[in-house]
Amino acid sequence: MSLPSLRVGDKTARFCIIQGGMSVRISLHKLAAAVAREGGVGTIGGMGIPPAELRREIQAARALTDGVVGVNLMYAGYLFDRLLDVCIEERVDYVAIGAGFARGPFKRLAEAGIPGFCIISSVKAARIASRTEGVVGIVVESGQAGGHLGPEDPEISTWDLFPPVRTALREYGFKGPIIAAGGILTRQDVLRALAMGADGVQIGTRFAVTEECAASDAMKAAWVAATGSQVEYWSPTGMASRAIVPHIEDMLPLVGEPGVHCTDCLKYCLHRDEKKSHCIYNALTNAQRGNVERGLVFCGGRVGEIHEVLPVAEVFRQLVTPAVGEELLAIGAHGGAEEVAAL
Ligand SMILES: Cc1cc2nc3c(=O)[nH]c(=O)nc-3n(C[C@H](O)[C@H](O)[C@H](O)COP(=O)(O)O)c2cc1C
Repeated sequence: MSLPSLRVGDKTARFCIIQGGMSVRISLHKLAAAVAREGGVGTIGGMGIPPAELRREIQAARALTDGVVGVNLMYAGYLFDRLLDVCIEERVDYVAIGAGFARGPFKRLAEAGIPGFCIISSVKAARIASRTEGVVGIVVESGQAGGHLGPEDPEISTWDLFPPVRTALREYGFKGPIIAAGGILTRQDVLRALAMGADGVQIGTRFAVTEECAASDAMKAAWVAATGSQVEYWSPTGMASRAIVPHIEDMLPLVGEPGVHCTDCLKYCLHRDEKKSHCIYNALTNAQRGNVERGLVFCGGRVGEIHEVLPVAEVFRQLVTPAVGEELLAIGAHGGAEEVAAL
């Protein structure tokens, strides 16, 4: 079966595959544009970079593709409003907002005619998101996702979280696309998500471990070598997050050490406001630049199943190409028993 397309505002991505935004310079223009060129939805991670840099990234992606390219912003970020201004001024194809919620930004997007996607992880959030002006698409992200996690049970799988949240969204009258995210790696996962009623999938870690991703080679090597991940309260936002366990937790950078400065990146920060934590911006930047020993390597729960760095085109080939016998199985599911028996 060929994968369905995905409508994002007045553009249509050929395939219903969104590359999840990965901030602090993991998903920048090269990755987002490569995904868009292959027919997916590319997303620049907008958190942890200054507004001028975000503008350059958007323009650089635009120069490489006329496919669907948007920006992911974290509401918890201190520069959120200024970064949103840039997205609106540059007329990106969509903006996805996670890590906190407010109606105001979606209203601004609606007024600007830019589709807003909201990232949620609970039935409770489904109620609010489905009634918010400007939310045209919703990503339901499970505890298998990488980075900051929203579900009450931070280990919950997509297969357990998605169905009740989707049902709630439809009951509340939400008509836009509902996207499944967290631990989706293979074509079978995509088909399983679609069979559960998803209109598409959002994939993070598999796209991080690609040639086009802006992370250092050392960070990519850490993802490839990882045998698993762990959910902990690594983040000074107070949210749970999933990462490869740092070699020694005490090695994460503390503000006040030589070269470690607070950039006020978060609206609320356990480090800055309560002096209780390492600095997440420096920890993520260390990893992105290659100092993984003193860095935080965010990853999804299935990182241990990724064994090589691939070009984005190859990731897409694997996701969109039907497996031998897949069509016959689909026919079989609709009553063609002989075809299935012949496999
Ligand atoms: C390194 C990394 C950084 C991430 N950064 C962000 C982010 O800035 N904002 C966000 O909403 N999600 C972020 N995510 C989540 C991804 O966008 C995506 O939804 C999630 O990783 C999907 O799960 P998967 O990695 O198992 O495919 C990040 C994930 C990773 C692996």
